[in-house]
Amino acid sequence: MTPLRLIITGLGARARTWLQVASDSPDVEIVGLCDPDPAARDRAREAYPGRPVAAALEDIIGTVGVEAVLLCTPPAGRLAQITVCCDHGLAILAEKPLSDDVATAARFVAMAEAAGVPLIVGLNFRYLAVTQAMRHLLTDGPVGSPGFGRFTYERWRDGTQSWLNSYPLTMDHPMLWEQSIHHFDLMRYVYGVEPVSIQAHTFNPDWTMYAGDTNVSALIHFDSGLTVNYQGTWQAGHEPMNFNWRTDCDGGIVMQRDMFGDLAFARRMDPEMTPVPLPDHTPWISDARALLNGFVATCRGAAPDCTGRDHLQSLMMLEGCIRASARRESVDMEEIRAGLAA
Ligand SMILES: NC(=O)c1ccc[n+]([C@@H]2O[C@H](COP(=O)([O-])OP(=O)(O)OC[C@H]3O[C@@H](n4cnc5c(N)ncnc54)[C@H](O)[C@@H]3O)[C@@H](O)[C@H]2O)c1
Repeated sequence: MTPLRLIITGLGARARTWLQVASDSPDVEIVGLCDPDPAARDRAREAYPGRPVAAALEDIIGTVGVEAVLLCTPPAGRLAQITVCCDHGLAILAEKPLSDDVATAARFVAMAEAAGVPLIVGLNFRYLAVTQAMRHLLTDGPVGSPGFGRFTYERWRDGTQSWLNSYPLTMDHPMLWEQSIHHFDLMRYVYGVEPVSIQAHTFNPDWTMYAGDTNVSALIHFDSGLTVNYQGTWQAGHEPMNFNWRTDCDGGIVMQRDMFGDLAFARRMDPEMTPVPLPDHTPWISDARALLNGFVATCRGAAPDCTGRDHLQSLMMLEGCIRASARRESVDMEEIRAGLAA
């Protein structure tokens, strides 16, 4: 198989991982790098000498024989990038969230479908061994069917650190769009369900460094009858992060106690949790590698995973939280789906 000819655009924090993973992949050839920021371009030239580097996709697409573009840009303002890709018939791997509003994301999905190009969203957490193992346990395991869950993600995220992106400091609902999107996607993926209604309250603690809300408390009701109690924050009172995802089933529980692993289960009367063995992995790298492999396979004709169209369902959950919190009432997901279809 010839390597996929790829341009990486947006050379900030997240691109560091992608540059490493794509450079190491025998199935990918990086044929160009783009960023409007001269400092980012200089860094790229230094780290990857000999590779074409440009300020904008338009400046490079016609010159390098490209098949696909990896969008590592902030979620706001991607219209020009998606348009160029669609106009040139280029497959797109876009970092999550596809956009910072659902209607724009839906427009991108329609544009890609009309152009006949794959539009895949970078939901790397789906590709972790712990995620795959939990999904298997819950569909085919010793503890039965899920009835309710509690998903806790409590993190002190200092958004002023230079190795992190800084745009979330000023965006609306940074926790929802930047972080909870992963969690909501994982719920849909692992449980194999779709949301029916959402109650939520979003807010900021008074010590926050973010303009938009960093706390999300939500009760999410799914079409299987499952309810998940979600608490996420970027402004926790303690470091390190507390990640805990527990699912109660008719015959026991499943617990994930670390973002990248530590999976265990117990049948109802088991005195101890039974750990689930997981293969070795390198956080951020193994998951990105598997995601990239899936994208290359899609570009070569395999059925897609993490499509933009599927991603819309998770984005609608963010919108559901925002509306529910603003109105102080439960929001029916049909309202949001109908609004998008109109
Ligand atoms: N999946 C994950 O685990 C994960 C982790 C971190 C970030 N992300 C996502 O990656 C994306 C980028 O985040 P980041 O942390 O790299 O942000 P960042 O701010 O560090 O970097 C973004 C880069 O994009 C560049 N850029 C802006 N507009 C551009 C344009 N029109 N064309 C080309 N480049 C442009 C900026 O100059 C900057 O260098 C976001 O969608 C974010 O949510 C995903």
